[in-house]
Amino acid sequence: MILDIIASRRAVFPSQYNSESIFKEELEKILGAANWAPTHRRTEPWRFKVFHSETSRKELSGFLGTTYQEITEKVSEVKLKKIKDKPLQSGCVMAICMQRDPKESVPEWEEIASTAMAVQNMWLAAHSLKIGCYWSSPSLKDHMGKHVPLAEGEKCLGFFYMGKYDGELPEGTRHTSIAQKTQWM
Ligand SMILES: Cc1cc2nc3c(=O)[nH]c(=O)nc-3n(C[C@H](O)[C@H](O)[C@H](O)COP(=O)(O)O)c2cc1C
Repeated sequence: MILDIIASRRAVFPSQYNSESIFKEELEKILGAANWAPTHRRTEPWRFKVFHSETSRKELSGFLGTTYQEITEKVSEVKLKKIKDKPLQSGCVMAICMQRDPKESVPEWEEIASTAMAVQNMWLAAHSLKIGCYWSSPSLKDHMGKHVPLAEGEKCLGFFYMGKYDGELPEGTRHTSIAQKTQWM
C-alpha cells in the first residue's frame, strides 16, 4: 500500500549499508520511477550520473576527498574519512542533477521542485525494493562539474547514496503534526 511505503521510508545512511550489491535491473526500475515525476511544460529536468561500478565509486571517493581538502581551510581527518568512505560503503551513488530548460520556459524553482519529486519517486521505489537511500547536499556538490561533464544549465543538487541493509528501519519522527502545518479555509 502506497501510504505504508511513504510513511515507512527513512533516510538510510552509508554506514548502515551491508556489502550486498545492488543489481543493475534494480537501479533501472528505480530510475524508471524517477522519469514519472510531474513536470511543468514537460521540461523533464531531472538528470542522474550513476556511480555503480566499484571503479567509478572509488574514483568518486578520491575526487570528493581531494576536493574537500582543496576547499577546506581546516581539514578534519574524521570528516575527510567519512566523505571518502561513503561512496565505498554504498552499492550505488547517483549525482542528482537538474537541467535548466534552455528556453527558461518555467522558473528555476519549478525545475528544482520537479527534480526533487523525481528523487522522492526513486526513494519510495528503492524503499519498496528494500534498498536504503539518502540525499546528501554538501557544498562539494557545486564542484561535481570537475569530475563529470555537466551540460550548459545543468546543476548538481546533491548525491543519492544507496545500499542494501540488514534488519528493520526505525520509526520516523516529525517535530510537528500535519494538523499544525495545515490551515483549513
Ligand atoms: C533536499 C534534501 C537534502 C538533504 N541533505 C541532507 C544532508 O546533507 N545530510 C543529511 O544527513 N541528510 C540530508 N537529507 C536527509 C534528511 O536528513 C532526512 O530525510 C531527514 O532527517 C528526515 O528523515 P527521514 O527521511 O528518515 O524521515 C536531505 C534531504 C533532502 C530532501
